[in-house]
Amino acid sequence: MNLLEEHQSTDLEQLVSLSRRRFIGAGALCGAALFLSGNLLSRSVMAASVSAANSSLLGFASIPSATADSISLPPGYKASVLISWGQPLHADAPAFDASGQGTAKAQELQFGDNNDGMSLFPFPDDDNRALMAINNEYTNYRYLFAHGGQPASAEDVHKAQAAEGVSVIEVKRSNGQWQFVQGSPYNRRIHGNSPIRVSGPAAGDAWMKTAADNSGRKVLGTFQNCANGKTPWGTYLTCEENFTDCFGSSDPAHVFDAGQKRYGATIDSKEIGWHPHDPRFDLAKNPNELNRHGWVVEIDPFDPDSTPVKRTALGRFKHENAALGETRDGRAVVYMGDDERGEFIYKFISRDRIDHKNPSANRSLLDHGTLYVARFDDGDQNTDHPRGKGQWLELSHGKNGLIAANGFASQAQVLIHARLAASQLKATRMDRPEWIVVSPKDGQVYCTLTNNVKRGEEGQPAGGPNPREKNLYGQILRWRESDNDHGAMSFDWDLFVVAGNPSVHPDDAKGGSSNITPQNMFNSPDGLGFDPDGRLWILTDGDYSNSGDFAGMGNNQMLCADPVSGEIRRFMVGPVACEVTGIAFSPDQRTLFVGIQHPGETGGSTFPEHLPNGKPRSSVMAISREDGGIVGT
Ligand code: FEO
Ligand code: CA
Ligand code: CA
Repeated sequence: MNLLEEHQSTDLEQLVSLSRRRFIGAGALCGAALFLSGNLLSRSVMAASVSAANSSLLGFASIPSATADSISLPPGYKASVLISWGQPLHADAPAFDASGQGTAKAQELQFGDNNDGMSLFPFPDDDNRALMAINNEYTNYRYLFAHGGQPASAEDVHKAQAAEGVSVIEVKRSNGQWQFVQGSPYNRRIHGNSPIRVSGPAAGDAWMKTAADNSGRKVLGTFQNCANGKTPWGTYLTCEENFTDCFGSSDPAHVFDAGQKRYGATIDSKEIGWHPHDPRFDLAKNPNELNRHGWVVEIDPFDPDSTPVKRTALGRFKHENAALGETRDGRAVVYMGDDERGEFIYKFISRDRIDHKNPSANRSLLDHGTLYVARFDDGDQNTDHPRGKGQWLELSHGKNGLIAANGFASQAQVLIHARLAASQLKATRMDRPEWIVVSPKDGQVYCTLTNNVKRGEEGQPAGGPNPREKNLYGQILRWRESDNDHGAMSFDWDLFVVAGNPSVHPDDAKGGSSNITPQNMFNSPDGLGFDPDGRLWILTDGDYSNSGDFAGMGNNQMLCADPVSGEIRRFMVGPVACEVTGIAFSPDQRTLFVGIQHPGETGGSTFPEHLPNGKPRSSVMAISREDGGIVGT
């Protein structure tokens, strides 16, 4: 940056910071907004300020928004399909049947639907081989079934359950290109009917027992697997999110108890319709089955015969992902968000230290430890990027009012009803916590708060890290643990970015923070990923109407941020009606894997094959540079 630019930028930044003091409530905002001479001026000023930031971390030009049924990338980048929904995993598995007439058994042998979070596990002795564990979050009946509607039989329900869960696949690199290895002995499906073991304080509890399993320790299936985590000891964590939606009741007069209500149980189930054909999901017949889902599940990808384990010490809620950290004294930390309007952010700290020399010694590390929930103060809202302090509150039976008289007779009950326990402690109700990641550079923790149209209603006042009422666009929160120790009980927080639409809303809080411009605007940040250089990749699951409050934002997308300067550039735009979710890097950072989920969820897409009358298929994409360089530089 030359001196002239620096001087301009300083003046401009003062203007920007004045114009953006808007998270302080409507009354106080008027003065700041009126003070500025013109909106157009302030907007062009902001754009100039951000481009002048000229981040050395970001080496590509920001691309425009787009509405095409394809992947858009900066010049010099290319994308190819690694794997798509329905691809057979084994040499003898049935081929994908686009008609929707394929069986449940076939789907159990094929890549699942709607890929989401994923992790890459390199082979220690071969740079050109790796395993990938990839979540399959849910399925779209419009495409799964030939009839295109709700499940009409037990076979339909089984097929839907087979389309969810996790796929473990082997990938290999040849001529610089990563490819899926069909027939690898590591390829594996874990789905809605796979045997899973339960461990930790809730295992064997009376609330976990059913007629089919009087041990309370053996569950069938994991489903609604949203995002993920990767442990330092080489295992994969898959997170059960909207599990309640899979349950309903055959009793039209069913009265739900406090726990069922808080987790959102309904008589009809939420557009999933398994319970009429699978009594396991009928709360009138199997009420405790609901308690056996909503957990973090640990999988060893290198042992295809291993039984996945539900780790109950991490609490039961609508888990988004699981971000690993380590305390200064060597214990494991897992940061987790509960994706529902007004729910919470948690962290788990293991009792024992991680054994980095002997990975298998960590097999029960996540069974013993303490769960905490976050409370944020209101902080300073008189700034472009609100900031403040927070603390972690312990969710342990016998402490903080978590006693039998309040509905918590044991640690098992605290964990099964983690939401109720966190409310007992008056934790802060958040704007839908989605992914959490830990910076490899400075240990700060970032969490997407995707949106919350109910913010400002009773029990959810605007303030702190959730500054806007009827929050359409979302924000990214970050915090630094006290003394830079993930084991700390307090932290300092700030908002890294407040998303918004400065073209439609130049004058108010809906315009977002100063690092949002008409050139990089987006809504509903969801997925997050740090590459080893410390670039923060932001994936969106937002309104793709490209109209009204969302005009100019186009399809869902992936952006890349410099966490130090705050600059954000748009890197990729996905196809029609997709969500961009799931991110992983090859160890050499020359390939970025990113998930395209539910392209054409309501029609309008034939991504990625673009066959005449073809179906859209969720896919994992491999993105690389034409010149083979490091992605993002
Ligand atoms: Fe599966 Fe909250 O996203
Ligand atoms: Ca998500
Ligand atoms: Ca989302």
